[in-house]
Amino acid sequence: MRINKFIAAAGVCSRRKADELIAQGRVFVNGARVTEPGLDIAENDTVAVDGEKIGAAEKKQYIVLHKPDGFVTTMDDPFGRPTVMDLVTDVPARVFPVGRLDYHTEGLLILTNDGDFANHLMHPRNAIYKTYIAHVPGFPTLGKLAALRRGIQLEDGKTAPCKVTVIRQYPDGVDISISIREGKNRQVRRMIEAIGHKVTRLVRVSVGNVQLGHLPKGKWRHMTPREIEEIVKGR
Ligand code: URA
Repeated sequence: MRINKFIAAAGVCSRRKADELIAQGRVFVNGARVTEPGLDIAENDTVAVDGEKIGAAEKKQYIVLHKPDGFVTTMDDPFGRPTVMDLVTDVPARVFPVGRLDYHTEGLLILTNDGDFANHLMHPRNAIYKTYIAHVPGFPTLGKLAALRRGIQLEDGKTAPCKVTVIRQYPDGVDISISIREGKNRQVRRMIEAIGHKVTRLVRVSVGNVQLGHLPKGKWRHMTPREIEEIVKGR
């Protein structure tokens, strides 16, 4: 990017004014005074005006990723496992994951560089529904499904009432749709374990009004302006 454009994008002044600052010898790149008005700068360059470091004002990005099984939801992993960050290297900003999905959990993960938006999504006060499809071998009784709906006593507290529906039956098990408004660690797996069953596959299919849909595994898309607005307005 041209140095004058970078200075303008950082909100310091207009491009024309930036050229004046350069001509006046007030702009430095990596500690060296800039003498060339048309200088191109690289992403890692440090730019300072009057001794003050400036940064590009990054555009806000809101991303939906289809997280595959076998990825950690952290910026990096001490064990060297693949991270969701490996799947968003082509997003035009440094985004971070909002909340967490377990290593083996698949499905919808939102990433953004908007800290306020991330806080809004995660704050318990906003109680945004997250819907998961759990594959469960065996056939939980109606009584056990009702217990899940009412709330389960876990070691870190009782879960809030939630929505539970059996959406598919197989010869050897069921798919259960479960919508929760909290985010305790491994919550869905622990709730289902507490009724004496196991989860062999867990996919998050929606967060609020945002749907995973047919987004292929490992791929991301931008959220639509409507999706962003509806999350913020709590619909
Ligand atoms: N509940 C779980 O058990 N795991 C997740 O990754 C998300 C919700």
